[in-house]
Amino acid sequence: MTPEKLIRLAEEAMTRAYAPYSRYCVGAALLAADGRVFLGCNIENAAFSPTICAERTAFVKAVSEGVRDFSAIAIVGGKGGRITGLFPPCGVCRQVMREFCGDGFLIYLGGPDGKYETRTMSDILPDSFSAAGQMQEYC
Ligand code: THU
Repeated sequence: MTPEKLIRLAEEAMTRAYAPYSRYCVGAALLAADGRVFLGCNIENAAFSPTICAERTAFVKAVSEGVRDFSAIAIVGGKGGRITGLFPPCGVCRQVMREFCGDGFLIYLGGPDGKYETRTMSDILPDSFSAAGQMQEYC
């Protein structure tokens, strides 16, 4: 699976965003170690706090299907579904990613004109608190 293909899948997921309040549409495509891809979009709510981000939707779908090993995620987003720049994951999504992903997990941030930038888990959440690090007695 190339980064370009994963980003295209994230763009497809973005078309399904439910974002009537912020109008920011976000899509994520999560690549599992076995090659399966889980798509996610943001799903907003009138009460605001129940809103779930695209990345967490993808993780929730995968983990609830018994998948916990991941290699990469592609993320795209923009107002009205128009990609005008990178759409980096929020802090909550970074922490959820960290629960299941090691330092080398790849994050592809899709931008306009097919351009993208690559980050690693350790780039976007250094000095993190994690199951593998501090909570070993529970693993
Ligand atoms: N959003 C995501 O889907 N992912 C992120 O990492 C950041 C924010 C969504 C939540 C909300 O529906 C909209 O973008 C504006 O914050």
